[in-house]
Amino acid sequence: MRSGIAAVAAAAFFAAGAAHADEATRIELGRRLFYEADLSVNGTMSCATCHVQRHGFADGNRTHPGALGHLGRRNVPGLANVGRFRNLTWAKDLPGGLERQALDPLTGTEPIEMGIGRIEDEVMGRLARDPCYARLFAASFADYSAKPTMAQVTSAIAAFERTMVAEESDWDRATKAGTRLADAAAERGRVLFAERGCATCHVPPLFTDDAFHVVRGHVEGEYDEGLFETTGRPADRFAFRTTPLRNVAMTGPYWHDGRATTLSQAIRLHDAPGLVPALSETDRAEIAAFLGSLTDRRLSTDPNLAMPPAACPLP
Ligand code: HEC
Ligand code: HEC
Repeated sequence: MRSGIAAVAAAAFFAAGAAHADEATRIELGRRLFYEADLSVNGTMSCATCHVQRHGFADGNRTHPGALGHLGRRNVPGLANVGRFRNLTWAKDLPGGLERQALDPLTGTEPIEMGIGRIEDEVMGRLARDPCYARLFAASFADYSAKPTMAQVTSAIAAFERTMVAEESDWDRATKAGTRLADAAAERGRVLFAERGCATCHVPPLFTDDAFHVVRGHVEGEYDEGLFETTGRPADRFAFRTTPLRNVAMTGPYWHDGRATTLSQAIRLHDAPGLVPALSETDRAEIAAFLGSLTDRRLSTDPNLAMPPAACPLP
């Protein structure tokens, strides 16, 4: 009896160990796919073309054109902690998480980004003919046979994206220790951020409530109707997801269309009646300094998140 339980426990242990090994392989496969230009219509563009590690997986541009030169509509967001949000992108509330989201750049047409919607089969065939990819897919997915599926591709990419965690910043260290931020301006900014109501939408620790709000409504030159474009509900017109602010200091320019060059400008865009109390230029500078304390440098330096070495990780 007792040895029976031990055997079951041992089997469970090895099963868990095996699942763990598969997950590590799947993450490594996802990393290669994230950096794989062969996932675009003309071999010129990978996820990492727009989501650049040293920019916190944003890209430093207002918008980024797709592989065929179609203009981007929205700013490339950073990907810090992207595995922890229910709602993804600036303004969509679609179910399906990271796996479904990855289909947007791969196969979407408004705008065309990587553009493989019509040639999925050919692209999957190309991956299957690469011996390293074939080994990685086989080791990652029990149901792999002969050729990967788009579901396997997006599942591996999502597993990699879930490792893009940012949770060790100056702010985290100070909060855990119960101390002030060492930088005096950032410390004043921390207090202002709470006092002026920023944290009601940008809720710590992820600095978002993962919900949609109308911050500016309709102002001249505003053509992007935000959440309304997917839901068609009048109340959603010009509503956007509260942008998460982890690592925000490295993901500029800001706002859904990249119109704000600096954090102070992005904060000023909240000046709307009844939204946040008036802030002085100094207040905004101090809040921007506080936002700088939310940077986890590991995200931009960890070699495990960088372009993988050419050598195949599975012999
Ligand atoms: C041409 C540039 C471009 C490429 C290539 C690209 N993205 Fe993006 N990505 C964007 C833009 C722009 C958005 C915001 C889209 C929106 O809000 O409508 C975005 C949003 C995202 C988000 C949502 C982030 C959040 O905080 O909600 C994720 C996740 C993401 N991309 C992953 C990927 C993956 C995975 C790939 C490759 C399969 C990829 N992207 C390829 C430009 C790009
Ligand atoms: C009512 C909810 C709400 C409040 C209150 C709020 N924000 Fe925002 N914030 C948003 C939304 C929504 C966006 C995205 C707007 C867009 O891009 O159209 C945003 C965007 C931002 C951005 C740009 C991030 C990026 O990557 O582009 C910064 C910085 C920011 N907020 C800081 C603040 C600060 C500082 C305060 C307090 C003074 C504040 N917010 C108060 C909802 C809010």
